[in-house]
Amino acid sequence: MSTDFYKKILDNNKTWVETNLAKDPEFFSDLAKGQQPPLLWIGCSDSRVPANEIIGAKAGEVFVHRNIANMVINNDMNILSVLDYAVNHLKIKHIIVCGHYGCGGIKAAMGNDSLGFIDNWLRHIKNVYRLHKDKLDAITDETERFNAFVEVNVKEQVYDLAKTSIVQNAWNSGQEVSIHGWVYGINSGYVTDLNVNLSSNDKLDEIYQLQF
Ligand code: CO
Repeated sequence: MSTDFYKKILDNNKTWVETNLAKDPEFFSDLAKGQQPPLLWIGCSDSRVPANEIIGAKAGEVFVHRNIANMVINNDMNILSVLDYAVNHLKIKHIIVCGHYGCGGIKAAMGNDSLGFIDNWLRHIKNVYRLHKDKLDAITDETERFNAFVEVNVKEQVYDLAKTSIVQNAWNSGQEVSIHGWVYGINSGYVTDLNVNLSSNDKLDEIYQLQF
């Protein structure tokens, strides 16, 4: 990071504050009272997929978790804590898992090169490939296979969210929580809704359905 860039982002912050205050003098004092975001966003860490910007959301409107390839790992304290807080405290009604075409994590997981420590994270993505190996291996065009893998990975993460005790507990107690899967097109800006929408554990394989 050059010194110029570093100075620029501090200046940008001042401009951002002034712009917001010019539009709404109470902007920050209102935000300071608390948050009630209707949405939890689980997206990729990729710098080209900024959660709020894509959906035109303001500060206070989206609770965000991002990691490499938008994974829902069920022993990841970070995502489980975010999910618990979002569902049980903020009472968020919608959760979106947003993957993106051209995802470097997905691409790396399709290959065999060792990239170091990150191999251990990518292994979770490889597990998704193994689950859908027949379908994915049948796609001969590599770009198409890559895109299909991005999509199928999002769907798996939607299901993995639904499998958590946190989400199933909420459903069991009558709390409305809907989980959706999206893919963002880095080269178009548009989001595609994959139409995988879960609002109960009915669609989970029976082995994952928790009884309370
Ligand atoms: Co990515």
